[in-house]
Order: sequence, then structure tokens, then C-alpha cells
Amino acid sequence: MADGGEPPTKRQCMDASQQGLAEAARPGADGAMPATQAGPLPVKQEAADGGGLGPGQEQRTAQSLIQEPPGPGPSSARERERLPPGAYSQREEALIKRELDGDISFRYVLNNDDPQNLIYLVGLKNIFSKQLPNMPKEYIVRLVFDRRHRSVALLKRNGAVIGGITYRAFHQQAFGEIAFCAVTSHEQVKGYGTRLMNQTKEFARTLDRLTHFLTYADNNAVGYFEKQGFTKEVTLEWERWQGYIKDYDGGTLMECVMHPRICFTALPDLVRTQRVALDARIRAVSNAHVVRPGLTHFAEGRVPRTAIPIAAIPGVVEAGWSPQLAPQGPQFRVLLDRGPPREPTPEVLHQFLAGLLEYVKELEEAWPFRESVSVQDAPDYYDIIKDPIALDVMEARLASKSFYATLDIFNAELRRMLENCRFYNAPDTIYYKLANKLEQQISAYLSAHLLYDDEQAAGLQ
Ligand code: ACO
Repeated sequence: MADGGEPPTKRQCMDASQQGLAEAARPGADGAMPATQAGPLPVKQEAADGGGLGPGQEQRTAQSLIQEPPGPGPSSARERERLPPGAYSQREEALIKRELDGDISFRYVLNNDDPQNLIYLVGLKNIFSKQLPNMPKEYIVRLVFDRRHRSVALLKRNGAVIGGITYRAFHQQAFGEIAFCAVTSHEQVKGYGTRLMNQTKEFARTLDRLTHFLTYADNNAVGYFEKQGFTKEVTLEWERWQGYIKDYDGGTLMECVMHPRICFTALPDLVRTQRVALDARIRAVSNAHVVRPGLTHFAEGRVPRTAIPIAAIPGVVEAGWSPQLAPQGPQFRVLLDRGPPREPTPEVLHQFLAGLLEYVKELEEAWPFRESVSVQDAPDYYDIIKDPIALDVMEARLASKSFYATLDIFNAELRRMLENCRFYNAPDTIYYKLANKLEQQISAYLSAHLLYDDEQAAGLQ
């Protein structure tokens, strides 16, 4: 495995011993290992340059970090597979598949005189020189070929280097300093930068036992680093890093903490597992996931359409509804043409609304409102008024005997008709003024024909 490892064969960071990968996961002479086997190592690894181990030696798989959640929900591996990965992981999952197909691979490369590694390092040096034009070329060469530095190279199937990260590992201090990070220009913004960083974290976590990365990010790359979990706040103890890394002008010092128990090459799986766990918790306390059959009652087109009891709507009672919770509208009685005040039963209400509509239609001020606005008269009317209504439409709705189930619904449509008019027309137009007059007439009619039990409700008219 002199060239830095085989293409990945497994998608997840798996327990190597369980998978019989203990031997395969052992780094080669150059310290490289297959990208997706770079997770939990079965044996402690001494850092390549003899440095001490960092904290967090315990290695566990991403799966083992998550306890299976209780309650119903997708629990089998196959069910979880079918879950959409979520926006964050989608792109990375696609790249993982390409890794499995051998289209791309990641190599952990040291300058250990291995000819193949030197070829990769030359490729990296070329990309860094091109993508980081402000960096002196000699400086790039020096660091990339420095034996204390490690690089992670992103390769295409033909072995061409298309991106990479070079970092120096300070093993005693358990942190690494990222010196260079770049993806070749025509391959940027495809997710390679994210996958490359996750692979690098995983190599650094498992092979170098690092817990932190520090870097001086180019100011125009701060956004990229933030999306990879870097922050401008440095939490690493000052004495652990001060004096070890170089200051750069025009860069922003950023830090990324690498949790010792997170497998960074299996992040999409981790996110998926967390989603399943969260979903199961939600299902345990809510039935929002239950899909009930829809209502067919109104779709059947019965004329006249009839109301159905609220409790008959599937899911309403299950969601905690009870008749006591139903909002009680203001209590009122109506005065019809003759006789004493009447309770607003559906029949009485219909009779009252029919009288009100007839009254409004006959008013002198009602002429602009009797029929729906025609496009010939106002070509842009329906572009501006998105919820049009007119007395002819209300008349048809009233005739259906099922539309205006309450006085409020009827009243709201009348008011909307007047609001539409005042929205479309300027205040100095005849239409605007007619809408105001009509509104006064309607209010007066309602005051004269409705008897509210409490005065506050009467004021709502
Ligand atoms: N500024 C802000 N956001 C960025 C930048 C940037 N310069 N580059 C990428 N992103 C965002 C992407 O839009 C994407 O966002 P999303 O996840 O919301 O969609 C996210 O970062 C990851 O994008 P990827 O496609 O995974 O990254 P990409 O393959 O483009 O690689 C990289 C990013 C390495 C910065 C690449 O653009 C590059 O080589 N740039 C030129 C060299 C450079 O500036 N390197 C960093 C210098 S600092 C240093 O080396 C220490």
C-alpha cells in the first residue's frame, strides 16, 4: 500500500474488527489508509513522527454513539436507507457513492520518499500555487514537502490530484495547523471541499490523534471554513498553541474542534441516525405523523351542500378537540320583518341574510357593486385585487344555503367587497366614496336588526 491506500469499499466508519478490517485498516508504510476505513482504528497508533497521543483515544463508531430511540419509527437499516438524507448531507452522500464506485479517493500523504507520494505532493503543490496566488511558491514547496507536514490528496480515478489540504500536526499539543487548502478551479463548489475537510479531520483524528485544527483562513475563504465547523473563537488553551503557529497578515485565525468520538467520514449517516432518533422522540409525544383520510363530503358535489359536524372530520377529535373548545361567537338574536327577535337558527339566519342582501342591492350607492368587475372596464383589476367579490357572487353563494354558515362569514365578504374597492380606487374617486357610504348604510342596518346579548359584541358590527 505504498501509494496511500486502496479506493474505499465501505460507506460507513465501521467497527474494523467486527468487519474483519483490522488488518486492512492498518496504515501502510506511508501512513496512508483507505479513506473510508480511516475511522475507528482497532489499535492505538503512534503518530508518524513519534509525537505523543492526543486525548480521546477511545474509538467508537458513529452508529454506536447513538442509542436506538424508543417508540415507533424506521428502525431497520433498510428503512433508514430510504429516508431522504436532508439538504446538508445530500451532496456528501453523492460523493461517498462516487468514492465507493472508485471515481474519487482520498490519500493521506507523507513525504517519506515514496515515489508515488512525491507525485501526489507535486500535484498538490501545483494546485496550491495556482489557487493561492498570494502565497510565495517557495513557501508552498517548503511546507508541502516538509516531513512534519501531512497532506490529504483528493484524487480522480486516473490518479490526478484535484484538491487537497496540507497541515502540520503538533502531536504533543494534539492540534494541527492547516497551512493550505484548495480544490482545482473547475471542480470547486461541487462539495469536494466539504468532503475533503471531513476526510482530513478523520485522518487527523485517527492517525494523528488531534483534537483541534487551527488555521489562518484567507479572508475570502472564511465562509467556507465556517461551513466546515470552524469558528473565529479559539477555545484551545493559549499555551497549547501560542508560539507554534505562524501569524499571517490578511488572514483570520479560526479553530475547529474535532470531537474524539465523531467519525467525520460518516457524518451523513450520523445526521440520518439523529433524524431517526429525533423523529422517534417526536412520534412518542405527538401523532402529527399520522395521515388520515381526507374529507370526501364536499368533493361529492352535493347541491345544496350540507355542513358536517366538526367531530366527524378525521383527526380533529384525536388532536384534542371537544365541543367545549369550540369558539363561541357573540350571542345575538335577529329581527326579521315582523315579529319578535328570533334565535339565529340556520333557517332564520338564511332569511335574515337574504333580507340584508336584498336591502344592500337596492341601495342607491350599490350600483358599482351589483356585478363582478368586468375586465373590459378595468383591465388590470384582477392583477391588483386577488380576492374579488361582488353582490352577484354573494347572491349565488347565499342561494347554495351552505356557504354562509355564520353571520361573520357573510359580513366579512361584504366588508372585503368594500375594502377591495377602496384599495383599487383613489380616495377622491366616486367609487371610493360610494364604498364609504355603503358601509355606513350596512352598519346602520345591522344595528337596527341585531340584538346582541352583550354590548361589546354589538360594537364589533
Ligand atoms: N467563501 C464562502 N463560501 C465558500 C467559499 C468561499 N471562498 N468557497 C466555498 N464556499 C461554500 C460553498 O458555497 C458551499 O456552501 P454550501 O455548503 O452552503 O453549498 C461550502 O462552502 C462548501 O463548498 P464545497 O463545494 O464543498 O467547497 P469547494 O469544493 O468549492 O472548496 C475551497 C472550497 C477549498 C475554499 C475552494 O473554493 C478553493 O480552492 N478556493 C480557492 C483557494 C482558497 O481560497 N483556499 C482557502 C484558503 S485559506 C487556507 O488555505 C488556510
